[in-house]
Order: sequence, then C-alpha cells, then structure tokens
Amino acid sequence: MAAPIPEGADLARIAAALVNGVTAWLALHDLARLSAHDDVVVLGSSGGLGGAVCRLAAVHPARRVIGVVGSAAKRPSAPAECTAVVLAEDFESSIDRLTGGRGADIVIDPVGGRLRRQAFDRLAPFGRLLVLGNASGEDTPLSGDSIWLGSSSVIGLSVGGVAHLVPGKVSEATAAIVDLVHSGVLNEPAPAVLPLERAARAHTELENRTAPPKTVLKVR
Ligand SMILES: NC(=O)c1ccc[n+]([C@@H]2O[C@H](COP(=O)([O-])OP(=O)(O)OC[C@H]3O[C@@H](n4cnc5c(N)ncnc54)[C@H](OP(=O)(O)O)[C@@H]3O)[C@@H](O)[C@H]2O)c1
Repeated sequence: MAAPIPEGADLARIAAALVNGVTAWLALHDLARLSAHDDVVVLGSSGGLGGAVCRLAAVHPARRVIGVVGSAAKRPSAPAECTAVVLAEDFESSIDRLTGGRGADIVIDPVGGRLRRQAFDRLAPFGRLLVLGNASGEDTPLSGDSIWLGSSSVIGLSVGGVAHLVPGKVSEATAAIVDLVHSGVLNEPAPAVLPLERAARAHTELENRTAPPKTVLKVR
C-alpha cells in the first residue's frame, strides 16, 4: 500500500507513527465514533499502541482521556495528553471516582486479561469496548448476555488482518495520520533511527525489551 507524503516531511517520524496511528484512527474514528462528549479509558497507555491512542484521542478531541498503567514506575511513560493516569491495581475505584460512577464511554484495550473484564464492567450505557490486542497474553471471555443487558458494544479490530480487504478505509486513515503528524497537530515521539546494517541490534533490543518505543531502519 502506498501513501503520498508531503514535500519535506520527516520520513522517520511518519514511518514510526503509521501502524499504531492508523490503528488508533480506525478504532476511535471509524469504530468507536468518538465524540467530544466521550470519556475514553486507554489500557496499556505506557505502550506503543496505547500511547498513540491517548495522543489521538486528545486531538480528536475526547472529553477526558484516562490512561491506565501497570505500575507507579510506568506513570512517566503515559502520554502527557492524558487528563488522568491511573494504576491498573486501582482500576475500578479510579474509574468510578473520575467518571462519577457513570463509567467510560470508550475503552481501548490492547492488553486483555483481568483488566479487560474490569473495563467491560465499567462501561457507561452505550459504552464501546475496543479489543485491539493481548499484551498480557490472557484472553478473557465476555458473555453475550452481559453485553445486551449492559447496552454495551464489544468491537474488535486487527489492521494487519483486514487491511487487504478494506484498502480504501486504511488509505483514508493513513492520509489522516500523515497529515496530523506532518502538521505537528499529532505529537508522535521521534523514533530511534538505525542504519539497515544494524537491524540485528534492533531485533536484539526488541527481544530484551530494552528497545526504544519505535526504531526506524534507514535504507541508504
Ligand atoms: N489491533 C491492531 O491492529 C493492532 C495494532 C498494533 C498492535 N496491536 C496489539 O496491541 C498489543 C500492544 O501492542 P504495543 O505495540 O502497544 O505493545 P507494547 O508497546 O509492548 O505495550 C503493551 C503495554 O501493555 C501493558 N501490559 C500489561 N500487561 C502486560 C504483560 N503481561 N506483558 C507486556 N505488557 C503488558 C504494558 O503496560 P504496563 O507495563 O504499564 O502495564 C505495555 O506498555 C499487542 O497485542 C499487539 O499485537 C494490535
């Protein structure tokens, strides 16, 4: 899939932003239909996809963007665009406090496991749970009866799995993300840039979990 890039664009920054940016755009814009009245809760907000969703939701804009992190040490890794950052261990009480007991209009879930269940239980009426990944490695079943009784929506998206079937939608999302990053409206962090010859080092860092949030390999 090819996308036009503006003259003089920061190619590395755009390359680093595309996968998570397009996923975030399709999830918030096309599927969750985010409006300015919505409170958005983002699980795994210290991570690559969660971070991108927080930044895009703040631009869209959402009413509030509540980031969830796994530990106090991860707080600084949540994007500055979050209106609040809460710990996973305090998830239920924090969401109750921040939403006045109403719950979240949209939950973005790249993590799964126990948090997915808790987040589903904290959806506001007509709330949307976007299931986008499984960083925890745990798949939590959700009951159909609790979905209709709670007037909730559970929506899945796998960009890698669907892009070849809906290229028009992905192209629209790509164009939107390129434009937002290039104009500086969407403040995606600059990636580490390594020459292609050091690809092995980039892979080792990914395997050791010492890699920077994004690495771009530069082809001379
Ligand atoms: N739907 C799509 O099209 C799409 C697109 C891109 C990625 N994904 C999926 O989204 C998920 C996250 O990807 P990512 O690139 O954001 O990963 P990442 O940068 O590693 O972030 C994952 C986050 O999940 C949290 N987490 C909670 N439990 C964890 C555990 N047991 N192990 C590791 N992390 C855990 C971590 O935050 P704390 O430490 O703060 O808890 C971490 O920051 C993956 O499953 C990926 O396949 C899906």
